[in-house]
Amino acid sequence: MRTRNSVTTLSQFVANEQAKYPTATGNLSKIFRDIKFAAKLVNRDVNKAGLVDIIGEHGSTNIQGEEVKKLDVIANNEFIWSLSAGGDCCAIISEEEDYVRHLNPDAKYVVAMDPLDGSSNIDVNAAIGTIFSIYKRVTPVGTPATEEDCLQTGENQIAAGYVIYGSSTMLVYTTGSGVNGFTLDMSIGDFCLSHPDMKTPEQGKIYSINEGNFKEFSSGIQKYVDSCKEKRMSARYIGSMVADFHRNLIKGGIFMYPATHSAPKGKLRLMYECNPMAFLTEQAGGKATTGDVRIMEVKPNELHERVPVIMGSAGMVEECLSCL
Ligand code: AHG
Ligand code: MN
Ligand code: MN
Repeated sequence: MRTRNSVTTLSQFVANEQAKYPTATGNLSKIFRDIKFAAKLVNRDVNKAGLVDIIGEHGSTNIQGEEVKKLDVIANNEFIWSLSAGGDCCAIISEEEDYVRHLNPDAKYVVAMDPLDGSSNIDVNAAIGTIFSIYKRVTPVGTPATEEDCLQTGENQIAAGYVIYGSSTMLVYTTGSGVNGFTLDMSIGDFCLSHPDMKTPEQGKIYSINEGNFKEFSSGIQKYVDSCKEKRMSARYIGSMVADFHRNLIKGGIFMYPATHSAPKGKLRLMYECNPMAFLTEQAGGKATTGDVRIMEVKPNELHERVPVIMGSAGMVEECLSCL
């Protein structure tokens, strides 16, 4: 797809995609407009983090008992502000919000998000991200969103994506017809299509797991990790899911946060970490599983529920499953 000066912006791309569906109302593209705007605000703040007083602890813990960083709160507020100002979102599930945040009851979309993923990397200037997932509500428009709207399985996602604040800032998303990546061009202040139709290699050479937990893994996961070493694969793990995922998506690899003896459901959250990344993985040709079931088939029971995750290049995920 080529437009003026051979540049396709995210807004143009979303509009073109939407034009393929004559019944589309345009509301989804408005959600993308709001996500894009919030991402630009977060990008600005991430970039000036070392210059102003926004590095470090916020001084609180979230409902999951994790230390909250100042930038977690800033990013959360920016996304909530943008989505509520836009008026097309009826409810938000956020890592940083204990409960559902209700917005416009007349809107039809629910957004689940991890506003700042990889918080532990903020202070050390390594890549961090934002993850989002969009659902259509199942209850009637005009009423407050319910649990039924907010706890849908990943299969019901109508869009999902992430923003990576790395050596450049990118937004990568899917609506179920492939994965496309857009790089923020600061000179024009817009995301431009840079990675059309992203596909992850069937096999890769990278395994990403917090191997410090090795002794806590099941024997199956230990066996698979040992096999990666036997094959002289590269271990790459920075502790930002978005950054680890993005690298593996492009180069081919496997990302795992499995169950441990002390955390039988793993660490990562189903609604705003695993499901959106699983949707992207599958749309790029890869696989995403808990080890027992496809991530996107897990029926959520609560907003901040955790699930073990194994995702990435299809051949590697299958090999891992064969060890379990
Ligand atoms: P968040 O910063 O949103 O809480 O997420 C951190 C997550 C994820 O990004 C990463 O993959 C994982 O935690 C790293 O955990 P370990 O430090 O236990 O490896
Ligand atoms: Mn996270
Ligand atoms: Mn987070």
